[in-house]
Amino acid sequence: MQPPKDNVVIAITGASGAIYAKLLIHRLAKDEGINLNIIASHAGSFVYEFEIGTTLDKDLPDNVRLYREDEFTAPFASGSVPLRAMVIVPCTMATLGAIAWSSGRNLIHRVADVCLKERRRLILVPRETPLHEGHLENMLRCVRLGALILPAMPGFYHKPSTIEDLANFVVSRILNHLDMSDGFAKPWNYEKEEIERGDHFI
Ligand SMILES: Cc1cc2nc3c(=O)[nH]c(=O)nc-3n(C[C@H](O)[C@H](O)[C@H](O)COP(=O)(O)O)c2cc1C
Repeated sequence: MQPPKDNVVIAITGASGAIYAKLLIHRLAKDEGINLNIIASHAGSFVYEFEIGTTLDKDLPDNVRLYREDEFTAPFASGSVPLRAMVIVPCTMATLGAIAWSSGRNLIHRVADVCLKERRRLILVPRETPLHEGHLENMLRCVRLGALILPAMPGFYHKPSTIEDLANFVVSRILNHLDMSDGFAKPWNYEKEEIERGDHFI
């Protein structure tokens, strides 16, 4: 008998950076141990189509399930349903604020709140610049409640040559925090000879 798959939720909100969600979804969908579920906010679906050029539903692998933000009866709205992790990528300041103040109004906020109350992994990938004091305070609140803030801030020391290289830097860091790897971004100075030869990646 096959072992049960781990449920993972990826939520897409209306911040710029849909490519991060796209690359992460396509990577996780290949993992046979994961049952992948997507929740998109209204704004998230809009920005995804605007930036990627395809509607989200048409761009998803066959083996993932898509929920709208108003599907309050989705399984993960309840703490009784096992969930390994939730990643909100990209995460707007609006969604971050709702999570920080436990003032959930949609399925994304609710599942995030469930993750926090059940002490489950919640990874927020915010994208906004510049940040005002309220944004920073909300990030601190989220960290204190148990979330991980992993800003969409790609590094450049892996010498990216494409937009995908840049985005994959962030996706690799998300995967690390899901105890996974894609072999894309190796740890800095880990394979020194490779670096000296000018090969990527670090
Ligand atoms: C093209 C576009 C890009 C946006 N980028 C951002 C962004 O990077 N960060 C952000 O916090 N909001 C951004 N917004 C605004 C959010 O989409 C808006 O606040 C929305 O109501 C957030 O709702 P949600 O958190 O439920 O997705 C953007 C909106 C548009 C139309």
